[in-house]
Amino acid sequence: MTGQSQIRQAKGTISKQIWGLMSVLIVLTGAGVISAQPKAGDAALGTQKYDSYETPDYCGTSCHVGFYQQWRQAMMSQSYTHHWDEIEYFKLAVPHAEKDPVVAGVKAGCNGCHAPLAFLAGDVPPARPEAGSRANEGVQCEVCHSITGFEGDTPFNFNWISVPGEDKQGPRAQGESPAHKMVKNDFLATAEFCGTCHNEKSPYGVWVKSTHLEWKEGPYAAQGVTCQQCHMTFAPGESAEMGTKYPDVRQHLFHGAHDPGKVRGTIELRIHPDIREAEPGEAVKFTVALFNQKTGHKFPSGSVEDRIVWLHVEATDVAGKKYHLKVDPKGFAGEEYTISADVLAYQDMGIALNEPDFKGVQRDGIPVGNRIFRMAYFDPQGRMTIQQWNTKSQGVDYRLGPRETKLETFTFNLPDDVAPGELKVTATLNYQLLVKPVADFLGVPEEESRVMFVNDHSTTITVLP
Ligand code: HEC
Ligand code: HEC
Ligand code: HEC
Ligand code: HEC
Repeated sequence: MTGQSQIRQAKGTISKQIWGLMSVLIVLTGAGVISAQPKAGDAALGTQKYDSYETPDYCGTSCHVGFYQQWRQAMMSQSYTHHWDEIEYFKLAVPHAEKDPVVAGVKAGCNGCHAPLAFLAGDVPPARPEAGSRANEGVQCEVCHSITGFEGDTPFNFNWISVPGEDKQGPRAQGESPAHKMVKNDFLATAEFCGTCHNEKSPYGVWVKSTHLEWKEGPYAAQGVTCQQCHMTFAPGESAEMGTKYPDVRQHLFHGAHDPGKVRGTIELRIHPDIREAEPGEAVKFTVALFNQKTGHKFPSGSVEDRIVWLHVEATDVAGKKYHLKVDPKGFAGEEYTISADVLAYQDMGIALNEPDFKGVQRDGIPVGNRIFRMAYFDPQGRMTIQQWNTKSQGVDYRLGPRETKLETFTFNLPDDVAPGELKVTATLNYQLLVKPVADFLGVPEEESRVMFVNDHSTTITVLP
């Protein structure tokens, strides 16, 4: 998409010429107080009022009841109030922003995506969630349905353009609404729309969130499968109570990493040995194939700094004895971050916490020797960080791309005391939203660091006497 066409979208139906003329008139008449061009990104801070946007309760109590209830269950409605968001913003980001001029902008900037109304109203930092301010509405109905386009060529860092008022941007022009006007805006149907908040660049210029960019270079973009088709799936029905029936009403599910059902089965696993019979002392090589059948972007995506996906392989002999198999290293640069180890990391949390000599916490918090599918983020001192705003560089990207298959091998030297008979070997893929040692250290509730099951598969060999 070119910059021109975005500007055209931003200005709706008013042609470029008329806008040019209007700006001239505004300058000539000295009416500079009227902002002719709505601002985007950082420049939009404080350019609107809370009152210019309806509340979700207003939209959802008697008209869009279904969407409202779906949205309430999605992370979108909790983007400001969710426990981990509150902890990271108030305990780490705000104090850090007050100490380090390079990251000072995040004090306001986090809200550009997480509490857009507070950002637009210039209410930063907003009151804590317990105060019940309008920041709590998070990514609410009017935030999305007032977006007319975005500024620039690449969607990122909340560079959407919000024009609140009578006109609601959406997929349909026909139909009647007693409450507002309906404007058909194809921008909302694009992946770029989502990318305005799902791509993020750190103050150091590093892509720390790139879900839309990952999608764009993958197979789904090439086939025209947008974010909406997997996260806002279409169903026959009404889009408002007693409204017109349509065959393809956009469901406001926004289900992602916090939905165990969405995560489950994302990757398919198969494990096989290189030989079917072996004696104690012999080496058997097991190969695991992992196929990403489900995500339109990499897995994990989004808050990659927090997330881990790991492969645990365990053998059980007929006597019930269990053996943990360690992954065979492949030898690529930066691989040490993709194999679980007993090391400390995340020392830069000490900046916000006033502990300059903070030693860090365990990097992975899972059994040592497992393959981890992740991308490490590094602070300016080269230490691993979960603070995406303090990210100056990144390690190897060893995540599972859309429709990608990765192979991992595990060589098992059969111990002398292994019981003769059938040996069962199971590969399990697990997922965690936030590495557990960090969650425990910061007091983030257990649900954010519980182990989520993705998939498993087993094979057997026979141990000869
Ligand atoms: C105004 C900014 C904004 C826009 C536009 C936006 N999102 Fe989001 N989205 C967020 C934020 C912020 C979160 C994180 C909520 C949290 O966990 O704090 C989120 C969360 C999500 C999640 C849940 C992820 C999880 O971890 O469970 C999904 C799925 C999602 N968005 C999909 C979309 C899709 C699809 C679109 C486009 C149709 C979109 N978003 C547009 C800001 C936005
Ligand atoms: C993260 C952005 C986002 C949020 C939040 C959001 N919507 Fe939507 N909404 C969309 C998108 C995207 C579409 C579909 C656009 C398209 O496919 O052209 C849509 C479609 C709709 C439609 C038309 C559905 C149809 O198919 O006829 C209605 C009505 C609607 N939304 C109402 C709401 C209400 C009410 C809320 C709050 C409870 C809400 N939306 C919250 C992004 C959002
Ligand atoms: C082909 C289907 C598909 C498409 C297309 C797709 N997603 Fe997803 N998405 C998934 C699945 C499945 C998951 C759950 C697994 C996971 O967490 O990655 C997911 C997870 C997510 C998450 C949570 C990621 C995490 O690891 O925390 C976000 C955010 C998200 N999607 C946003 C988007 C956006 C934005 C787009 C478009 C640029 C998009 N998705 C396109 C299937 C899809
Ligand atoms: C460009 C938009 C954008 C900006 C700026 C942004 N975020 Fe986010 N944030 C998101 C999106 C989108 C997600 C959801 C990604 C996912 O689910 O994987 C998210 C997820 C999170 C999560 C994880 C939520 C969870 O439950 O897993 C936390 C915590 C968070 N953000 C805090 C912050 C803080 C603190 C800042 C400022 C330093 C910030 N964010 C700046 C868009 C943004």
